[in-house]
Amino acid sequence: MAVLIRSKTPADLSERDVTNEKHYWHRRDFIKIAGASAALVGSGLIGCENGGESAQASAEPPAAVTGLTKSPLSTAEDQTDYADATSYNNFYEFGTDKSDPARYAHSLVTDPWTIEIGGAVNKPGKIALEDLLAQHSLEERIYRLRCVEAWSMVIPWIGIPLASVLPRFEPTGNAKYVAFKTLHDPKQMPGQNRRALQWPYREGLRMDEAMHPLTILATGMYGREMPNQNGAPLRLVVPWKYGFKSIKSIVSIDLVANQPDTSWNMQAAREYGFYSNVNPEVDHPRWSQAKERRIGEFRRRKTLPFNGYGEQVASLYSGMDLKKHF
Ligand code: MTE
Repeated sequence: MAVLIRSKTPADLSERDVTNEKHYWHRRDFIKIAGASAALVGSGLIGCENGGESAQASAEPPAAVTGLTKSPLSTAEDQTDYADATSYNNFYEFGTDKSDPARYAHSLVTDPWTIEIGGAVNKPGKIALEDLLAQHSLEERIYRLRCVEAWSMVIPWIGIPLASVLPRFEPTGNAKYVAFKTLHDPKQMPGQNRRALQWPYREGLRMDEAMHPLTILATGMYGREMPNQNGAPLRLVVPWKYGFKSIKSIVSIDLVANQPDTSWNMQAAREYGFYSNVNPEVDHPRWSQAKERRIGEFRRRKTLPFNGYGEQVASLYSGMDLKKHF
């Protein structure tokens, strides 16, 4: 039978859960690879919303990134604390508890890292992440990330627009959607030894969504390189969609003619649609989507359509019934 396991929610986070940065980081080298001891909870249907505890320890802070351009697309809202954004995560490849990614994701080797771009393109190929980044200047953009249940964060991401990457591979007329995959390597990602989801994690966007200037491939946050638990070395950020669209540790990007499979839709199609635009009017079958708690705040706030980015993105969906295409 399907079980929903739930322990702590963001609302339950205590002072104890949030340590200062100095205490928070341990030296990466001193931490043993979690391997078999990675504690995966439960089996069967596990929702993207699962509760859990905030982690206490992880690797040393990633290197600082310099030479950033500030993006005019940023929000001016208060940022979520770095300690919260890096200790309360969803990254099922390292376990289903919110604290698992910070505890165990150090086993992922992120350098060197290669991305393969294929499908409906004239110039398919593999590219080393450093070569890809050498072609771009990195921007800092402060975006909201709203996870599917009730919590949201405001994070200064560092990244490059996906729209400036895809044209280099010359998409053909058949490129209607973009399909992304995470690394599949159970040795480095011990959570993949369990079938919490079908691996590799996959996500997709329609081509116009992928080419929208708000969509970025993020390589860092808070002026630093991306912590492993947040999807190092390269993750997607699509700020008007629920957090699960923001796939982490991407190794392949395929341009395709048909709507691609996505992990959470394969897991529970009734609960997670392909579009996953933040929409306070469409409830998740098991809870309301009308309000959210921003991590670090006490009061719940009203969730905004498209996570507050309606002015920029609503036109992508004109004429679509967003209750049907949720
Ligand atoms: N990407 C991979 N590969 N595996 C995952 O389990 N979880 C998703 C998304 N990307 C996930 C993933 C979900 S459900 C959310 S809410 C966000 O990552 C969480 O991002 P954060 O941990 O940086 O807050």
